[in-house]
Amino acid sequence: MNQRLKYALNFIKYRLFAKHRKGHGIHSPFLFELIIKVLNDKKADEDLKKVFEVYKKYKKSNEILVYNEIGAGTSYTRPKRLSVGEIIKKSSVNKKYGSLLFRLIKYFNCKDLLELGTSVGISTAFIARAITKSNFVSIEGVAEKVNIAKKITSELNLNTNFIVGNINDKLEAALNDFEKLDFVYFDGNHTKESTLKYFHFCLNKSHNDSVFVFDDIRWSKGMEEAWTEIKNNKNVRLSVDLYRMGLIFFREELSKEHYIIKF
Ligand SMILES: C[S@@+](CC[C@H](N)C(=O)[O-])C[C@H]1O[C@@H](n2cnc3c(N)ncnc32)[C@H](O)[C@@H]1O
Repeated sequence: MNQRLKYALNFIKYRLFAKHRKGHGIHSPFLFELIIKVLNDKKADEDLKKVFEVYKKYKKSNEILVYNEIGAGTSYTRPKRLSVGEIIKKSSVNKKYGSLLFRLIKYFNCKDLLELGTSVGISTAFIARAITKSNFVSIEGVAEKVNIAKKITSELNLNTNFIVGNINDKLEAALNDFEKLDFVYFDGNHTKESTLKYFHFCLNKSHNDSVFVFDDIRWSKGMEEAWTEIKNNKNVRLSVDLYRMGLIFFREELSKEHYIIKF
């Protein structure tokens, strides 16, 4: 079965088995609050509106980037030639998921933040906008994309430390500069091996209240396997499957549970 068909069938399965988004049938008070106050929150926050404006502007951008691709699914030997707008439409978070990143960080008051896979900085803007005084590092392998991310974050007056290079080479050193990690967004190099490797590195800096977010958990068989292994890790207490993204929590006060939530 091809991957697209499998993705569609998995989506139907997800819609059938996902718990209702209004929180019915959820016994964990922590998760119930999360659904009501974060997942279902539709308030038009002023900070979010500013990110939406920039998002809209750059989605229309015809500026061409010529670059060598990096990461899972890379099959081209020739450089890529795509407009910034095309890159955003193809691979950035949309407004719904970007707002989720923003709301999670705000709700849990996360201050030490790490992003793997900046691209042109759309998710970066949602993350950085959530909290003003933060220690935020974002790693990306393509310098041409980071140049756009820098433009976007400076337009929004955001404070982000960019690291340009392969996550495989840069992650360990980047983690040395963190005492702890409150929030990690995994969105670069979607192979099973890399995702698990990055997860285990970041686990060393996690704490009871850390939140880890994995993007594209159903992007491939390897990513599905990585997600299964991550949610079953002994340190993970609660996992929340939103179909595209998976959230994990380490809180010892929670009992080990996996939820599939309609989002
Ligand atoms: C799905 S995109 C990220 C999208 C971005 N988070 C957003 O929502 O706007 C994944 C990015 O990870 C980068 N990437 C993939 N593998 C990488 C690696 N091993 N090291 C550094 N960057 C990598 C790619 O260049 C690409 O820009």
